[in-house]
Amino acid sequence: MVPQHIAIIMDGNGRWAKKRGLPKILGHRQGVESVKKIVRACVDFGVKYLTVYAFSTENWQRPKDEVSALFKLLTNFIDMQTKLFHDNNVRVRIIGERGRLDPAVKSRIEQLEKDTASYDKLTLNIALSYGSRQEIVGAVKTLASEAKEGKIEPSGIDENVFSKYLYTNDSPDPDLLIRTSGEMRLSNFLLWQLSYAEIYVTEKLWPDFGKKDLKKAIDEYQKRERRFGK
Ligand code: IPE
Ligand code: IPE
Ligand code: MG
Repeated sequence: MVPQHIAIIMDGNGRWAKKRGLPKILGHRQGVESVKKIVRACVDFGVKYLTVYAFSTENWQRPKDEVSALFKLLTNFIDMQTKLFHDNNVRVRIIGERGRLDPAVKSRIEQLEKDTASYDKLTLNIALSYGSRQEIVGAVKTLASEAKEGKIEPSGIDENVFSKYLYTNDSPDPDLLIRTSGEMRLSNFLLWQLSYAEIYVTEKLWPDFGKKDLKKAIDEYQKRERRFGK
């Protein structure tokens, strides 16, 4: 079966640029091309949900120039790819700390979410200023205040209820996690949601990752036996 939900840690843009003696930002720019290819490939393969890690809460610690260049690329991507989403019936959702985003970026994102809300071929979740621990703490805070106000009974909180308080509340858990560039870590990505995901790490750097590589990852996934502890 094709995985219903694929999550990707898009890593290696910096190394891709370095290998070529190019400025890092050109690696990020090439990375955007991979995103476009992979969105189309997911539509072709019948994947229903794609969650991509674009910018972590920790990435705010990068040089200011890099951060602003990354957000510029993102806003360009949103402006230029509206057609990609409309033509392919793709619903876009942003997950992460919206409050930390520049108001102009935030309003563009919200417009895009509104414009694509009714599409149902593929849901594309873009993790932006996203950190899993921060997401979990945020959920706990909301639950605690709702309990205090008497809106929810502590005894009524279970895994299902808790999941509804996460940013990913309208997507099922990922079946397959892909990380490019050979790093074997989660880097604070979807800690709760990845509990039983199959993990696939490739040496390919994100700007070099294309449809064939995605196919390879899906083929590998299909060979795995998922036991869920049983
Ligand atoms: C991934 O590429 C993109 C972001 C984290 C925004 P990196 O910039 O982390 O690339 P490397 O890891 O330095 O090669
Ligand atoms: C993870 O990559 C975040 C994104 C891909 C957006 P990083 O390059 O920031 O992660 P570390 O520093 O290697 O753990
Ligand atoms: Mg990296």
